[in-house]
Amino acid sequence: MKLNFIISGCIFMAALSSNYTAFSQTKKVTKTVVKTTTVHKMTVNPQEIAQGKALIASLDCMGCHNVQNKMVGPAYMDVAKKYPMTTANINTLSQKIIAGGSGNWGPVAMSPHPALTSPDAKKMVKYILSLNVKKG
Ligand code: HEC
Repeated sequence: MKLNFIISGCIFMAALSSNYTAFSQTKKVTKTVVKTTTVHKMTVNPQEIAQGKALIASLDCMGCHNVQNKMVGPAYMDVAKKYPMTTANINTLSQKIIAGGSGNWGPVAMSPHPALTSPDAKKMVKYILSLNVKKG
């Protein structure tokens, strides 16, 4: 009878401690997720940035844009300061380059570029947004 009590006591303790382990693991996972959301870290392939830069040089973009100074369109450096490098921003801006339009910087519209493919437009956006990413 006494032995029985000790054994069931041990099982109870084991159940308790395994529950506790599960609880502390959940806590750790939650912390990691919060940190990742705040930091907004995004890895971009440097090759895509170089291809984006070359594409911009080969098209009409520099007729209206300059890296440092506002011309017909905003300076690329100002675009990079306004939009951090996130997937959502890369999607929105690449669609805007293809469709054209106005409203985010003023009443003047950017001409549409319907011949551009979405992957190429995204590479150009990655180059532009990389201008505000600190090196090193
Ligand atoms: C006819 C002039 C013109 C040309 C050519 C042009 N842009 Fe623009 N661009 C503008 C104007 C004007 C704006 C501001 C639009 C606004 O206020 O929403 C702009 C805005 C942008 C923005 C920011 C969009 C936003 O919603 O904040 C990006 C990125 C951009 N241009 C990239 C490009 C690229 C890449 C090319 C070449 C494929 C290009 N532009 C060609 C005039 C031009």
